[in-house]
Amino acid sequence: MKEDALPAAPLLIQGAMDVETDWLIDCLSHPTEEWEGAWRFVRGEAAGRQLVVSVTGIGMANAAAATALAVRRYRPRAILNQGTAGGYHPDLHRGDLVLGWVMVNLGAFSSPHRDRGAGVCPEQWTPFPVSVGRPGEGRRDCYRLEGDWELLQTALEAAPAHHTGRVAAGVLGTADQWNREVDRIRFLHETLGVWAEEMETFAAAQVAAGLGVPFLGLRILSNHELHGEGYDRTTGLHCQRFVLEVARRLSRSFNQEENLP
Ligand code: 5AD
Repeated sequence: MKEDALPAAPLLIQGAMDVETDWLIDCLSHPTEEWEGAWRFVRGEAAGRQLVVSVTGIGMANAAAATALAVRRYRPRAILNQGTAGGYHPDLHRGDLVLGWVMVNLGAFSSPHRDRGAGVCPEQWTPFPVSVGRPGEGRRDCYRLEGDWELLQTALEAAPAHHTGRVAAGVLGTADQWNREVDRIRFLHETLGVWAEEMETFAAAQVAAGLGVPFLGLRILSNHELHGEGYDRTTGLHCQRFVLEVARRLSRSFNQEENLP
């Protein structure tokens, strides 16, 4: 490396809970733990690159805060938000992975007026767009975002050899909700096309888009209400193993781009 060269920008890997991040943190050589308020970051080397593992905490506000802080502090080359999710797509089962080619905000709706006593009708709610990006520089109002194409291709290429369940590019839905009503799940699947729900991806993606950092969400199904498959915490480990392989492949191509060994 040239003497004045900056160290290569790290890859940021996020997970909400310890069961989604512990294994990755154990893989880091020379780990350094850093905190910003309530948010924990562990830096170290693995998969041929500097990695920062971020334990975001559960929910959209936590994911957004952790993303903004990490981008400011570490200037990552790309962000992988990973962890567990609940299945909506009837063809998927616990242990399958959904790679977020699209992410939908399942927490933002507006409802048409209904008179007092006319009840509540979520089927009539429509998605409410949030603004993404800078005014005048491609800012748009949207309730769906797309994952980064290069990151998605790399993850898809890793899939056949490195995960025993199915791996498919699909639609992740994010809200501070855990839905177990089968009719609600079917409705959101049929109307918004959601394959799996979780509580962080869209929020982190929205901040990453605003700060111009490539982003991909990768989620393993830890539960699937339609099939009566309850939460299995060991799925968090399988997701981390897959994500480390994706990180290895990304490191190779980033290092090539940057002429690093
Ligand atoms: N609904 C919502 N969040 C889920 N998670 C796993 N399964 C589900 C589900 N069915 C994830 C969320 C959150 C934590 C509670 O687990 O992303 O971080």
